[in-house]
Amino acid sequence: MSPPRRTRSIYRCAECGHDHPKWVGRCEACGVWNAVAEEPVTERPPHRARPSSRPSVVPSPLSDIEASRLIRWTTGLPEFDFVLGGGIVPGSLSLIGGEPGIGKSTLLLQAAARLRAAGRHVLYASGEESPEQIRLRADRMIEDAGPVLALGETRLEAVLEVTRKSGVELLVIDSIQTVYTEELESAPGSVGQVRECAARLMRFAKETGTAVVVVGHVTKGGAIAGPKTLEHIADTVLYFEGETSLDYRLLRATKNRFGSVDELGVFSMTGQGLAAVPNPSAVFLAARSGETSGSAVTALMEGTRPVLVEVQALAAPSGYGTPQRVATGIDPKRLAVLLAVLERRGGSSFGQLDVFVQVSGGVRLREPGADLAVAAALLSSLHNRPTPPDALYLGEIGLGGEIRPVGALERRLTEAGRLGFQRVFCSRPNAPPPNLRAVSLSHVDELVHTLAA
Ligand code: TYD
Ligand code: MG
Repeated sequence: MSPPRRTRSIYRCAECGHDHPKWVGRCEACGVWNAVAEEPVTERPPHRARPSSRPSVVPSPLSDIEASRLIRWTTGLPEFDFVLGGGIVPGSLSLIGGEPGIGKSTLLLQAAARLRAAGRHVLYASGEESPEQIRLRADRMIEDAGPVLALGETRLEAVLEVTRKSGVELLVIDSIQTVYTEELESAPGSVGQVRECAARLMRFAKETGTAVVVVGHVTKGGAIAGPKTLEHIADTVLYFEGETSLDYRLLRATKNRFGSVDELGVFSMTGQGLAAVPNPSAVFLAARSGETSGSAVTALMEGTRPVLVEVQALAAPSGYGTPQRVATGIDPKRLAVLLAVLERRGGSSFGQLDVFVQVSGGVRLREPGADLAVAAALLSSLHNRPTPPDALYLGEIGLGGEIRPVGALERRLTEAGRLGFQRVFCSRPNAPPPNLRAVSLSHVDELVHTLAA
């Protein structure tokens, strides 16, 4: 039987599914801009009239299905393996997103080199850089990337053919925005191309057992271009983030079919590529001076691992009519809520002050358990009194000013104890923590009391 013939493309809206005969910037049905993408239409031979001639499919009880052991290839880059949940899974499609220049290519070339050294056949296909440029990068790394196969090719069909023929076990595509399939007429990087290429790579991975890792650039808005479409196709989605001006790079899993999500891996960019940072808390607190006001330490749960970070705040008289609120690493709305609670429930006014808040190491505060540390840093700056250098702040603050407990208290305190913290300000714990002295607070006015002169 001849393979299905492709005859034409359709242009489908990703929002409402409406089909257009040609590309339009705005969907004719739902009116959304930039959601229409090209898709291939394959024409299949007409269905046979007699369904009995088709092979029948039979479902089977789950208990009859043989459980295969999940194999993982460890790359030997500890933080990378940790975030992946133990290593790369054969036959899986992983996506690594991040802004340009953050270190995605470096990380993958290092992982590729280590896997090659462990005996895996690796192909690094790059449309971003020529093989000469990849070689230059490889020369800087400690790892020996010499035996890694490199290919400067953007035609997906060609890349897959080479992969199949040369028995490659790990295929790296750098990046999904530069590859294209000849099946579609749209340009590489367009939503249709990105989605179709990712879907083909997924099928290829599942059919051949090849592990495929794809780099995806994140656009300014934060979405991986070919927006969310890639995330649901991939088995594992990792984001590489951090301030490019800082040395630290944070790798986080936001989706993982083979492990837990939200695990955080920390790397530092060195002259010889990326180095894993095995003890992030110590690094994030390294520059902290106990004598400055406007600083408080909290312990965040990043996936299963506690990480200590310093929250810094500065309240300064405003030179303008409307005071500024600048938040880095914390949601500005959360900051506004905390300022309002401190004002109404704690009697501490920031009304005419500019307020700046930031978090060490480029970490983002995602959990409300960090509220108490933010409030302590704000009050400490307001009253110009440093928080105790050995104190940790843990607690969520409610709109009534009440302080609520945080989860995983023991794990957070163990990490804090390891780094020499002696006491923890938190809502009354069920049992006194074994290693730190608990100072229980039930309301923000008690916190104000500890920091006001
Ligand atoms: P790169 O991996 O090219 O980023 P991406 O693929 O995410 O765009 O790395 C970008 C930066 O890292 C670049 O500015 C150079 C720097 N770098 C180092 O500082 N040390 C090194 O050993 C390497 C390879 C790169
Ligand atoms: Mg790159």
